[in-house]
Amino acid sequence: MEYTTLGSTGTEVSRLCLGCMSFGTSEWRDWVLDEPESRDIIERAIDLGINFFDTANMYSRGESERVLGNVLADYERDSAVVATKGYFQMDDSNPNSGGLSRKALEQELSNSLERLDMDTVDLYQIHRWDYDTPVEETLRTLDDAVRRGDIRYPGASSMWAHQFADSLRVSERERLERFETMQNHYNLLYREEEREMLPLCDREGVGVMPWSPLARGYLTRPHEEFEATTRGQSDDYAREHPYFEGGGREVNERVQELADELDATMAQVALAWLLHKEWVDTPIIGTTSVEHLEQAVEALDIDLDSSDVAWLEEPYEAVRVSGHE
Ligand SMILES: NC(=O)c1ccc[n+]([C@@H]2O[C@H](COP(=O)([O-])OP(=O)(O)OC[C@H]3O[C@@H](n4cnc5c(N)ncnc54)[C@H](OP(=O)(O)O)[C@@H]3O)[C@@H](O)[C@H]2O)c1
Repeated sequence: MEYTTLGSTGTEVSRLCLGCMSFGTSEWRDWVLDEPESRDIIERAIDLGINFFDTANMYSRGESERVLGNVLADYERDSAVVATKGYFQMDDSNPNSGGLSRKALEQELSNSLERLDMDTVDLYQIHRWDYDTPVEETLRTLDDAVRRGDIRYPGASSMWAHQFADSLRVSERERLERFETMQNHYNLLYREEEREMLPLCDREGVGVMPWSPLARGYLTRPHEEFEATTRGQSDDYAREHPYFEGGGREVNERVQELADELDATMAQVALAWLLHKEWVDTPIIGTTSVEHLEQAVEALDIDLDSSDVAWLEEPYEAVRVSGHE
């Protein structure tokens, strides 16, 4: 496994982060694994040297955090870098179980720590922007959480670049802990982040950890086959994203072609592309298969030259923004 420093933090993380959205309970989504099968994947990831895990309070309504915590309890706590998130409403009857107010965040962070069975979470991310809470309130709450030792670093996820720039400015002005990471939607089929967000993160030394690096599976198989998979049929988000628009199908075909040429899988080529982007620290991979996990790790050894990268990128056309509002 290769390791990299996460943004400006000094914390070393594996070049692949294991996304835990597909672990928890199949009662939440058809494509989510229950605890025993989730355990197999997480343990194999640890064997392969992955030390960075991303979950969220909303994944399987808390079960993802609980399962991750159960598995990690069998290992040295210090060896893992654990990231979770808050924002989405957890209890339909309680409006303060979501959002980024001090009340909601403190409660949700405390619930996450309890489910993870940890005293401290390494990275606590805001899952989305809260239009109803001043960002200063959110940053003060997170700064206090750092002082209390509940979290090591605050991080952020998909939002507009102007919102992220504002939050960095408020942190600097008020001398509050800043968002050290950006978890954003970025892959060969969704590159709108290259316009503003990624250059901003680069300039500010913010760690970048893209989500859905394989376009939720659309970059792992010929486009005509994707719709026939469980996730292709039941993952509303995969259909909501503009992967099938613009030059998407042609990018998918070029990934197939290069994979054949390199004797690699499509998933490996798509991941290798992301790993070649200098502003990416660690893509967050999502898989329910040990074999696919192993393939992802092998993708670290794939060398793409600049003409491969340019050829894969060429058909891309600007698409509508997706992943945040
Ligand atoms: N912050 C946010 O708003 C946000 C949003 C979405 C996701 N996330 C994070 O990002 C993580 C990854 O997201 P994602 O699951 O959408 O990621 P993804 O990596 O883009 O897609 C995962 C899909 O690709 C398939 N796949 C992976 N490797 C494959 C291979 N070698 N061959 C064929 N198929 C393969 C998986 O199927 P198998 O299960 O069969 O391998 C799964 O259906 C999540 O777990 C979560 O932590 C964050």
